[in-house]
Amino acid sequence: MTQFNETDLTQAVVKSFDSTPNPRAKFLLQELVKSLHDYVSKTGLTFEEWDYAIDFLTRTGQKCTDTRQEFILLSDVLGVSMLVDAVNHRDRDGATQTTVLGPFYVGEHKVTAHGTDISPNNQTGERMFVQSRVTDLQGKPLANVPVDVWHADDDGFYDSQKPNYDEVGASARARFITDNDGRFFFRTILPCSYPIPTDGPVGEMIVQTKRHPMRPAHVHFLVNARGYEPLITHVFMDGDKYLDSDVVFGVKDDLVAKVEPRNDPAMPDGSKANGQWHLMTYEFHLKPGGGMAPTPLGVKAVERA
Ligand code: BEZ
Ligand code: FE
Repeated sequence: MTQFNETDLTQAVVKSFDSTPNPRAKFLLQELVKSLHDYVSKTGLTFEEWDYAIDFLTRTGQKCTDTRQEFILLSDVLGVSMLVDAVNHRDRDGATQTTVLGPFYVGEHKVTAHGTDISPNNQTGERMFVQSRVTDLQGKPLANVPVDVWHADDDGFYDSQKPNYDEVGASARARFITDNDGRFFFRTILPCSYPIPTDGPVGEMIVQTKRHPMRPAHVHFLVNARGYEPLITHVFMDGDKYLDSDVVFGVKDDLVAKVEPRNDPAMPDGSKANGQWHLMTYEFHLKPGGGMAPTPLGVKAVERA
């Protein structure tokens, strides 16, 4: 019979993974065991606390559906998503900065014509025209690149969070393909700051720990060109009051764009403006490389150009 004490138990569990055929899986599992054991020893974790943690994680899993990812949300609010982002993007070489994918990269990103209003059902939001270009690090335009776009409505909810999503379908969510000059453009509404979902275990933790649940206003972009690293990022609205305290720690200075109020009667593509509107201009610079963009939940794999 083998009996372990507090100190040799960790080594025994680490050793139990010694025959793992995949060396990277072996390394990840053994390091995980060491970190978890260290946490338990250091904190003197009680049975009640262990039980609470198991229940919390169980409820986190139970909250996940085809259009809701509570585990990504947990990773986001603990700063784990941004840490994974940081260790995987140590050297940007002038490429556009990256940030979290977030839990709402779900639903269909249909290829959409440039200039389309991707928020046609929302007539109450302030109108915004987004003009953008995708280039390499030398400024050479990249043509035929799929760019997925998604953002929250002016009520602070993504289409996939709405109870009538199955009937209404995608809103403020689309895929554009860059033209020969690397450009794409579209119309939408001005996004607003919004709270992450607080009706699940993650939100409960945020409320109980007296953190605020807000994210500063932003538009998400996923740019996925053959021969280049997939770019997962947001463009944030300058002046938002939550830029310095994003609940998921996702803001980077270079991702904050000035969004200018305009009164011109026409938008840059010649379409009629109907009163005041806002102009967002932002360029994306891609770094050569490979890798696949994530395709979580219901999202169809992004075809590469
Ligand atoms: C989002 O921007 O969609 C998001 C990111 C992380 C957590 C919650 C929401
Ligand atoms: Fe978002």
